[in-house]
Amino acid sequence: MMKIQNQTNSTYSPGMPVKGIRGQILSFHDDPFLKEPHECYDYIDDGIIVIQNGNIIDSGEYQNTVCKYPDITDLDVYDDALIVPGFIDCHVHYVQSPMIGSFGDTLLDWLKQYTFPTESMFVDKGFADEVAREFFQQLLKHGTTTANVFATTFETSVDAFFEESERYDTRMISGKVLQDRNLPDSLKDRSAEESVVLAERLLKKWHRRGRQLYAVIPRFAPTSTPQQLRLAGELYQRYIDQDVYMHTHLDEAQSEIDWVKELYPDQSNYTEVYRSFGLVDKRSVMAHCCIVTDEEWDTLHRCDCGVAHCPSSNLFLGDGMFRYWEAKKRSRPVRLGIGTDVGGGTNFSIPRQLGDAYKVAMLQSRSIDALKSLYLATRGGAETLHLEDKIGSIAPGYEADIAVIDLKPSEFIAWRMNFAGDIFEKLFVLMTLGPDNINRATYVSGRKVY
Ligand code: GUN
Ligand code: ZN
Repeated sequence: MMKIQNQTNSTYSPGMPVKGIRGQILSFHDDPFLKEPHECYDYIDDGIIVIQNGNIIDSGEYQNTVCKYPDITDLDVYDDALIVPGFIDCHVHYVQSPMIGSFGDTLLDWLKQYTFPTESMFVDKGFADEVAREFFQQLLKHGTTTANVFATTFETSVDAFFEESERYDTRMISGKVLQDRNLPDSLKDRSAEESVVLAERLLKKWHRRGRQLYAVIPRFAPTSTPQQLRLAGELYQRYIDQDVYMHTHLDEAQSEIDWVKELYPDQSNYTEVYRSFGLVDKRSVMAHCCIVTDEEWDTLHRCDCGVAHCPSSNLFLGDGMFRYWEAKKRSRPVRLGIGTDVGGGTNFSIPRQLGDAYKVAMLQSRSIDALKSLYLATRGGAETLHLEDKIGSIAPGYEADIAVIDLKPSEFIAWRMNFAGDIFEKLFVLMTLGPDNINRATYVSGRKVY
């Protein structure tokens, strides 16, 4: 479909530097799971994105648009590439970058053997700084410009993350992880009360500082006492109208669900455990949601929660299999995006997650096409994070976070593309055959960072 988007913008300041990015452009403005899919995107064969002060001020056909901006000082041109909104990773643990790819038998063994010892090392600010640096390099190299990120117990881990994000001016969400039981002493919060005081201090320091946003993050129900979940829920509710998030794991694996049932025998399901403490609400983001009952989907829909589908992690850890058709059931849809869940996920690439999402669906006799997949990776992620008015689309007024996908990332794929039809067939080839990185360039707030 060739739908031309060419809106004029009121925030253009003549005389100030203007940047242009020219090439094939694809961006979603609506949810193809809920609306006619081909009405949900704009595709321009030869387009331009016009950027000023970090924001998109115009986008449209190159020939019709460029003449309106005689003071474009710098123009990047991409051939054999597709320009899309920067990818959004709705669930990832930056602190697990040093142990990605560690052998796992079950989720709970893997946590004990590799994850908890690694996270314990973040008490050292120097170590946290080094990992944050590497994490941002990986994210931006792979075209991810926003992520919803677990730090760990220590303030050092949160400061290191946001300090690095500020350096790039990326729009990021993170926070201190609340965890006061069923962990090694080296990682455990000293008390529920103290942990929430620390979380609030970090919230006040980082929330809405530049593009940074804060989340209240109880790791998952088994690693918090009821008192910690209660205090976390109170903190979240105090700040929910200032756009603070709640981020946690939910219904990832059967062994985890069984454990939660043992710990909270009076609650009818796992979602109710969180809900009873005020943690299930309009800015809650739940990672995984593989084994979810109808009642739970109803609650997640009613409370307007976001869900992060993490297919490479679910395959790697042998958890449940996500059912996107339940998440997007038209009578009770949830906001849905994609998460790498690094270090459970085995790479930082959102396009590679899409290849895995297809396989997870196929194993259940379903499929998911490239159109819907790219939506989940961009606008769907923005909706999951309630940021769909700022990021996830290429249109005037949006923040200029952009990824440039290489349509010919290897000699073989370049040859294979001779036999692919429209842009979605090409994207499907990339999701399926793509090497580790198919990203050619990344822009954050209009600045080229990769
Ligand atoms: N559940 C609780 N903590 C974790 C974690 O670090 N990774 C994953 N995949 N699941 C979890
Ligand atoms: Zn996780």
